[in-house]
Amino acid sequence: MDTIIYLDNNATTPVDPEVFDAMVPYLKEHFGNASSKQHSIGWRAEDAAERSRSILAEAIGAQPEEIVFTSGATEANNLAIRGVAQRYRRKGNHIVTAAAEHKAVLTVCETLVKDGFEVTVLSVDRYGRVDPEEVRKKLRPETILATFMFANNEVGTVNDISAIGGICREAGVIFHTDATQALGKVPIDVEAMNIDLASFSAHKIYGPKGCGALFVRKKGTPVELIPLIVGGGQERGMRAGTLNVPGIVGMAKAVEISLRQMHQEQLRIRSLRDLLYDLLTRELDLTQVNGHPEHRLAGTLNMTFRYVDAAALMSRVRNIAMSSSSACTSGTPGASHVLRAIGLTEEEAKSSIRFSIGRFNTEDEIRFAAAKIIDAVKKIRAVSPAYLAAESSFDASIETSNDQ
Ligand SMILES: Cc1ncc(COP(=O)(O)O)c(C=O)c1O
Repeated sequence: MDTIIYLDNNATTPVDPEVFDAMVPYLKEHFGNASSKQHSIGWRAEDAAERSRSILAEAIGAQPEEIVFTSGATEANNLAIRGVAQRYRRKGNHIVTAAAEHKAVLTVCETLVKDGFEVTVLSVDRYGRVDPEEVRKKLRPETILATFMFANNEVGTVNDISAIGGICREAGVIFHTDATQALGKVPIDVEAMNIDLASFSAHKIYGPKGCGALFVRKKGTPVELIPLIVGGGQERGMRAGTLNVPGIVGMAKAVEISLRQMHQEQLRIRSLRDLLYDLLTRELDLTQVNGHPEHRLAGTLNMTFRYVDAAALMSRVRNIAMSSSSACTSGTPGASHVLRAIGLTEEEAKSSIRFSIGRFNTEDEIRFAAAKIIDAVKKIRAVSPAYLAAESSFDASIETSNDQ
């Protein structure tokens, strides 16, 4: 195989051809500005954006007026967290989050600390899960926001969002979840799960880059936000700027497809992930899976290969696209903060690879990738004094135990 095998679907996904086809008319003949109220070209764009809003709302159990389109999940997270912090500052200055969150949440929280907010960062368990009871313990009268991701981008662990949402609702604390990696992969119901704010991104589910959304609760106790971007008053004043209609149409189509086939698709993806794991562990010792054994995204397999530098491994198998840490933070040096948060040493974290399998991967690709990775791991270990020493002491201990 000369082409690249793409096993980095948590970083981004290719646009589904059906999504592309849905977007094209809105780049060509229906190019209107959704705010142009005086002519049919504008109305057509507005209709398309509103239809898309309804599709996304329905997919998560929300109302169309509860959806604000953004440029992606980073912006949605910023709008949610900064928007609440600024709006409710008089009520309190305390925010709760967790150590394994995406940088698009953690960095926003860090900037708020500089602005005088207090942020409690909960630790996660060895699988990357937040304990809902720990959340309960950390909530205080001055807590205005709790923000916990739905599913982790690096290890795939899925949090107990319903339990966390219930605890926040009881305490009267606004609950935001970064659901970027969950949309289209696991069921989301903002009502049943007591979610007040949720961030989404199109490019993780075979939609276009540069388009995302924030769910903002209106039902019951509505959440108010101070907008980040002001101007022409679009999105009911919550996010000014001409609507990215082709992107929005693409996002809605991507959501529609993912939901239509979610059950079957996730089963297929999981079987490919399990196949990859079986093939790798059949041939390689001293490996470990990072992430929850059960509560994990079907396509995510994060593995530590002891005595193998992940960067060296990736440079040996250049025709397989995988990741040594989150793509969004790979500009930041050092070991993954998520792997460190679940208890891996710096060395173990630097020996870990994330494979993320998606819609367009095939069994042949998985078999080919596994063979290449096995070969590369063996070659790297063959010249690693630390591995050879560990292996010989391992062999010696087997011999000793056989003697007894
Ligand atoms: C959990 C999570 N949140 C936020 C983001 C950022 O999303 P976007 O690229 O749409 O800004 C990502 C992307 O990797 C993610 O995985």
